[in-house]
Amino acid sequence: MNSKKYPKKLAIIMDGNRRWALKKALPIISGHNYGAKNLNEIVSKCISLEISELTVFAFSTENWNRPVNEVNGILKLIEIFMKSEIANMNSQNIVLKLVGDLSNFSSKLTNIFKAAEELTKENSGLKLNVALNYGGRQDFISSVKSIFSEVKKCNKEIEDIDENIIRDNLISSSVSDIDLLIRTGGEKRISNFMFWQLAYSELFFTKTLWPDFTVNELEEIIEDYLDRDRRFGKLMSKTYN
Ligand code: FPP
Repeated sequence: MNSKKYPKKLAIIMDGNRRWALKKALPIISGHNYGAKNLNEIVSKCISLEISELTVFAFSTENWNRPVNEVNGILKLIEIFMKSEIANMNSQNIVLKLVGDLSNFSSKLTNIFKAAEELTKENSGLKLNVALNYGGRQDFISSVKSIFSEVKKCNKEIEDIDENIIRDNLISSSVSDIDLLIRTGGEKRISNFMFWQLAYSELFFTKTLWPDFTVNELEEIIEDYLDRDRRFGKLMSKTYN
């Protein structure tokens, strides 16, 4: 593979767990369960592909509107995943970061998140951002509010506001610009995910439901990405370089 253009920052909208479970006549939660297991496989593959940062959408601000049993099931699954996988993640040199408004979660869960982040913060391998209770618009509003409060306190001038200031004040400030976004499950939309970091990303949509998404398909998508010409609004590099 061409290492120059190789995607370093990958993001995945892991969609299709529910439909996967329904197709197999299994309880909905088992779709999420297989989804969580599949995340482990994909994380390991990202490490071997030398991807530096993987950002996954695990729970959106809109997901609270699902039936209460499903929400509780997903939260329990996230808790079990964090507890059971953290040692494994640490041994894989992963730096885990939870991205989102975590204030809505129980103190038990937030303590687990904090402990997981603390344990892995000095690692130097794959940075794994797990977006939880995350919404792109809410992220943007929160950045505007913090900047505005700095302006009000006269700590900043309106003229100082630039891309860096907006980014630094995002809830997702630790997430880098994304090279490649993959959405499984067949829908072709961004669904309020990291739109600051997605401004120049390559997008790939696959019909595969998340629990069925394989490392082979990931490799095929990366091959497709390598054939693309990323211009960032400039002239075609192949023709004009
Ligand atoms: C989308 O599928 C998936 C979710 C809302 C939850 C994603 C959660 C996991 C993969 C498991 C837990 C995550 C971690 C980090 C342990 P959907 O239910 O919207 O599927 P559908 O499109 O078929 O309805």
